[in-house]
Amino acid sequence: MPGKQRSWEKRLAAKPDELTVDYVESLSYDRRLYKYDIVGSIAHAGMLAEQKLITTSEFKAIKRGLIEISEEIEAGRFKFDKACEDIHMAIEAALIKKIGQPGEKLHTARSRNDQVATDIRLWLRDEIETQQARIVPLQKALVQLAGKHTKDLMPAYTHLQRAQPIVIGAYLLSFVEQLERDFVRLGNCRQLLNVSPLGSGAIAGSTLGIDRSSTARQLGFADICHSSVDAISDRDFCAEFIFACALIGVHLSRLAEDWILFSSNEFDFIRIDDAFCTSSSMMPQKRNPDVLELMRGKTGTIYGALIAMLTILKGQPSGYNRDLQEDKIHLFAAADTVGASLDIAKAIVAHTKFKTKEIASGLETGFLDATALAEYLVGKGIPFRQAHGIVGALVTLCEKNGQRLSELSLEAFRECCAAIDDDVYEHLGAANVAKRYLSAGAGGPRQIHERVSYWKQHLGTR
Ligand code: ARG
Repeated sequence: MPGKQRSWEKRLAAKPDELTVDYVESLSYDRRLYKYDIVGSIAHAGMLAEQKLITTSEFKAIKRGLIEISEEIEAGRFKFDKACEDIHMAIEAALIKKIGQPGEKLHTARSRNDQVATDIRLWLRDEIETQQARIVPLQKALVQLAGKHTKDLMPAYTHLQRAQPIVIGAYLLSFVEQLERDFVRLGNCRQLLNVSPLGSGAIAGSTLGIDRSSTARQLGFADICHSSVDAISDRDFCAEFIFACALIGVHLSRLAEDWILFSSNEFDFIRIDDAFCTSSSMMPQKRNPDVLELMRGKTGTIYGALIAMLTILKGQPSGYNRDLQEDKIHLFAAADTVGASLDIAKAIVAHTKFKTKEIASGLETGFLDATALAEYLVGKGIPFRQAHGIVGALVTLCEKNGQRLSELSLEAFRECCAAIDDDVYEHLGAANVAKRYLSAGAGGPRQIHERVSYWKQHLGTR
């Protein structure tokens, strides 16, 4: 390898073993930080010039050189040499090769430790906005579909047993709420990480008169990290971002699981478009929901990244340790995985049809109106606990006779409870129940009609 690739080379008597070179390099994956590394370096050099630690013409040469390097990387013309270890050393070495001595001044009052911490924070600020920009179209697709089904009913489940009737829109909007929290959570993470470590140096800062506020301002950070030791030590913000990704994964995997079930012959609630299904190499009849299964499975990849990140951070001695370099592997894996899943989830939602007729044909089985009947009795002055018992007995009777609650005669009702009148039939059946929901946030047509409007307006502003 050429003479001066490694900035620290003079310190060691022997060249690193080939195995060492391969083992310590991060250039193969941290090169994706290059833009942020260059932006950070330009800000740093600008500050060095402001503080007269370099001359204005040196700054100009550095800036020009860095911009050229950025263009070379962009165009695929830059030669990445793993002997440079990481993107920071690769760019610095290229700069020195390109502009000579001014390039050798760039690393004044800076270490790769504060440099990498800065790069990751800059990358994450953008990455968070990218992920948020992926959440919104998925929310919109769900709202769109919910808007089509503010009146069509489906069973809501608890314990995967039929519970109460809701409109399909109510089911769909539950995911919009979850994704909204994911959106806000990412924003909170961004706010907390938006402080500048640059100028913390290796661990203790610098004896030179640098101006950290200037670089922070230039880079759009809200403040500087006020502890140089903390600034180069901690990557809690990486763990937090991955956690936010993991929760998105939780939500997407639950949607995927529902829709895998809903698309089965047993449920037959939805039809996922062919474009998002695969078939079988052996069984010609198959339409498999592989995309959704992978969405569910890839959540495991994100959890893996979270556990890896937390484990890397755990028990390190204070200060920078090379363990931290591994953070980016898991950070990128989590971001890439969740990003791909959000994109395809949006596409699937936009192309899925709810089979309202098929769903409706099964709505009167499973006693979805039992709870509403108990509440009808509460309206007749019966304490809820007693009402619950009465309806339980009526359901048992129906099960014995193979009847629905709405098929019981008034006499049969009255035998169990004298308070029941013939208005009881207006409270039975899935449709009657759903339109009677009164409480805020309930799954009835009225509430969902309102919430669809709310979401359309709210998401329209994004
Ligand atoms: N590639 C390293 C990382 O990702 C940069 C910092 C290296 N610092 C050092 N003192 N060896 O963390």
